[in-house]
Amino acid sequence: MNTYDSLQKQLVAEPKSWLITGVAGFIGSNLLETLLALDQTVVGLDSFVTGYRHNLEEVKQNATPTQWQRFHFIEGDIRDLDTCHRAMKYPSPDANSNTISKSVDYVLHQAALGSVPHSIEDPITTNQTNINGFLNMLVAARDAHVKRFVYAASSSTYGDHAGLPQVEDNIGNPLSPYAVTKYVNELYADVFAHTYSLSSIGLRYFNIFGKRQDPDGAYAAVIPKWIAAMIKGDEVFINGDGTTSRDYCYVKNAIQANLLAAATENANAVNQIYNVAIGERTSLNDLFEILRRELMEHQVRLGDVKPVHRDFRAGDVLHSMADISKAKQRLGYSPSHYFDKGLREALDWYVEKLKNG
Ligand SMILES: NC(=O)c1ccc[n+]([C@@H]2O[C@H](COP(=O)([O-])OP(=O)(O)OC[C@H]3O[C@@H](n4cnc5c(N)ncnc54)[C@H](O)[C@@H]3O)[C@@H](O)[C@H]2O)c1
Repeated sequence: MNTYDSLQKQLVAEPKSWLITGVAGFIGSNLLETLLALDQTVVGLDSFVTGYRHNLEEVKQNATPTQWQRFHFIEGDIRDLDTCHRAMKYPSPDANSNTISKSVDYVLHQAALGSVPHSIEDPITTNQTNINGFLNMLVAARDAHVKRFVYAASSSTYGDHAGLPQVEDNIGNPLSPYAVTKYVNELYADVFAHTYSLSSIGLRYFNIFGKRQDPDGAYAAVIPKWIAAMIKGDEVFINGDGTTSRDYCYVKNAIQANLLAAATENANAVNQIYNVAIGERTSLNDLFEILRRELMEHQVRLGDVKPVHRDFRAGDVLHSMADISKAKQRLGYSPSHYFDKGLREALDWYVEKLKNG
């Protein structure tokens, strides 16, 4: 049995309490679904700035009524410190069946403004959310004495460092305001570890994809955006010549990394940063062909869809591919879904949602 299988068994046997920020978003709602299925108690915080009520509704449909009762949702903003403090607590019955307020065991901090181009258009709001909001969350987690603060870092922190595969210790200069904020998160978490003994782990997500990732809007990620465009018969745009490549990582691998990071008791593993990816890369040109082929296998009728090339997007890195050996060695991370398997699962969901919509 691998480390993640044993951890899931252990969590079911001895349930814990969790705070997920950004719970109505793509990764947050997938984390929620997994934790409720493992009979955990979850507090969720979201302001719905890019997340959706219908994501929570979908998780509810997939949970039992008892599991759903263990979910406590707070609509609020991480830029407000009182809200962050409030989110660290959940109602729990004591020995006399009175309701008392307890601190969560673990925090999975996902809430942020996650778009590179949006951060270029509006660096101030990105900074307020991703740095001030992050600092509020660190302070609230410190004050609540949580066991671990796991947070969403980003592969954008590699910036202009050209070497592949990307190894945690070798980063370049950030290429966007968003990348600056994600790097500052790592610096703050490190300072809180030394100054206040707050135990944290930063997960540098590479391009995460899967169900509930938003296909709409100007800042949509490439995989859901192209799937939606192909299904609707809209134009598919490639920024640049299409040789740009990414380490696309299925969301279930990111969930695994979060749970392993929260629960690890390996002293060598905490207060560290980890790449969360697969360790392979796919170019945009290849992604286009793979999506076209897979959608046809999903019985989606595609016309003579051809990509339209346009300018390369400012702030984007050219290539990314992770070295994942650190997460494997220290956390016991072992991706359950390589790109093809993850994409097929994601497509089942998108086709179902979008084909008749
Ligand atoms: N998806 C990826 O490929 C990827 C890659 C690297 C890093 N990340 C990071 O992972 C995290 C989750 O990303 P996602 O793809 O699920 O994005 P998402 O936009 O779907 O989710 C983010 C959630 O945070 C919420 N949020 C934003 N600002 C908030 C605020 N001020 N107060 C409360 N809630 C707020 C949003 O409403 C949304 O529900 C983010 O921190 C992002 O930067 C994602």
